[in-house]
Amino acid sequence: MNSFVGVGVGPGDPELMTLKAVRHIQSADVLAYLVNKEGHSQAKEIAKNFIEDQELLPILMPMADDSKVGDQVYDQASAQIQVLLDQDKKVAFLCEGDPLFYASFTYLLSRLEHNSTIVVPGISSPQSAACALQHPLTMLTESYCVITGRHDETFIEHALTKFDSIVIMKAGRARVKILTCLENTQRLDEAKYLEYIGRDNEYIQWDVKQLEKKAGPYFSMFVVTKATRPRV
Ligand SMILES: C[S@@+](CC[C@H](N)C(=O)[O-])C[C@H]1O[C@@H](n2cnc3c(N)ncnc32)[C@H](O)[C@@H]1O
Repeated sequence: MNSFVGVGVGPGDPELMTLKAVRHIQSADVLAYLVNKEGHSQAKEIAKNFIEDQELLPILMPMADDSKVGDQVYDQASAQIQVLLDQDKKVAFLCEGDPLFYASFTYLLSRLEHNSTIVVPGISSPQSAACALQHPLTMLTESYCVITGRHDETFIEHALTKFDSIVIMKAGRARVKILTCLENTQRLDEAKYLEYIGRDNEYIQWDVKQLEKKAGPYFSMFVVTKATRPRV
C-alpha cells in the first residue's frame, strides 16, 4: 500500500537509528533525500547500511537565502513523490535528526499530507549534544529553549537572559554574532560548542573563548547551561 513516510535517521551515528526507522527504510519502494550540489546527502550517508535495491530519488537543494528557491524545490519534489504514491509505491523520505524538528520533511509533509502519511521520530541533535557532552540539558525547575543563529542579536540576548538552558542551532555562519551575544550576557563561560556530533569528525570545544572568530560549518551548535547547579 502506498504511503509517504518521514524517517528520522538521527544525528549521525548509524547506531542511533531506531528499529522502526530501519524497518520503514527496508520496506520502502523509493528512498528520497535532499542532496547538495556535490550530490552528498547526510541522511543517506547515515542510513547507507540499510539501502539495498530501493529506487533512489535524490532532491537537489541549492544553498540559497532566497526562500523562493526552496519553495520551487519542494513543489517539484512533492509532485514527483505524488506520482510515485499514485503508482501505489511507498516513499520514505530520509531526514537527518528528527523529521519534525527544523527539518526539510516538514515542507514536503505540508504539500503531501492528503496522502497516507507516517512520521518516524529520530534522535535530535540537542539530545545527542547533551550526551556527547555528558552534561544534562535541564535539571529540576530549569527552563530550556531552542533558538537558531538566524535570529538577531536582540532576540538571542533575550533568550540568553531569560532561560537557564539554551541550544542555539544553525550556528555556522552566525558564530561570531553568537559569541558576541554570549559575551554581552556574561554567559561565555557557560557555553559549549559542538560540530558534527556523532560523526567521525566530531569536535567539541568546552571553552568557547578559544574559538576562532569566524564562521563555522553548518552542522554546529552552542549549548548553554547554568554554571552552578544544585546537587541532588
Ligand atoms: C536543518 S537543522 C536539522 C535538525 C535536525 N532535524 C535535528 O533533529 O536535529 C540543521 C541544524 O541542526 C544542527 N545539527 C544537526 N545535526 C547535527 C550534528 N550532527 N552536529 C552538530 N549540529 C547538528 C545544526 O545546528 C544544524 O545547523
